[in-house]
Amino acid sequence: MSDSEPVATHTTVVDHPLVQHKLTLMRQTATTVVKFRQLAREIALLLAYEVTRDLPLTTIDIETPVSPAKAPALEGKKLCLVSILRAGNGLLDGMLDLVPSARVGHVGIYRDPETLIAVEYYYKVPEDLSERLTVVVDPMLATGNSAVAAVSKLKDDGASQIKFACLLAAPEGIEQMREVHPDVPIITAAIDERLNDHGYIVPGLGDAGDRLYGTR
Ligand code: URA
Repeated sequence: MSDSEPVATHTTVVDHPLVQHKLTLMRQTATTVVKFRQLAREIALLLAYEVTRDLPLTTIDIETPVSPAKAPALEGKKLCLVSILRAGNGLLDGMLDLVPSARVGHVGIYRDPETLIAVEYYYKVPEDLSERLTVVVDPMLATGNSAVAAVSKLKDDGASQIKFACLLAAPEGIEQMREVHPDVPIITAAIDERLNDHGYIVPGLGDAGDRLYGTR
């Protein structure tokens, strides 16, 4: 694994000890599907904490049991989470634990196993994306092809403020996102060394979808 220096200034590595410990458990082959899923949910909640760090606040008037007060509250429409199917769904529940009112979109994109090029097969998102922070989630930012394609589609659809959250990022994927969408910050639990010839992140954690759903 590379040290925690960000590859790009728009990439944040969430180096909280709990995140790092849970990620180490997820990486291990011996970790069961049940545990893997639970850890994905827990890390997703902690990533969401970082993703939402700069949400705008306003001041509202409230009544406490003791006195009236002015207190901070979130301003504007709540965020929209967009899962890149299918592995992105593994991060949704944890993020929704923290932001239960978020809207949720789904983008179906698979990597052609030969070319590794992203192919879209499903797209369903809320209509008012332009008014929301849109957080695209996928556990693995590998080549970046799927993530970049999803972000392009969301921008075409009106999304103007987009962030990308993942568990693991490869330098190649970060570079690709930075080149095509420099306005999209990446929030990740770690940046690994590289991709192998099959487009897998090394050392990585294997196929996130298979490990979440027990399909291999
Ligand atoms: N997708 C995965 O699930 N794992 C990788 O290592 C790369 C892409």
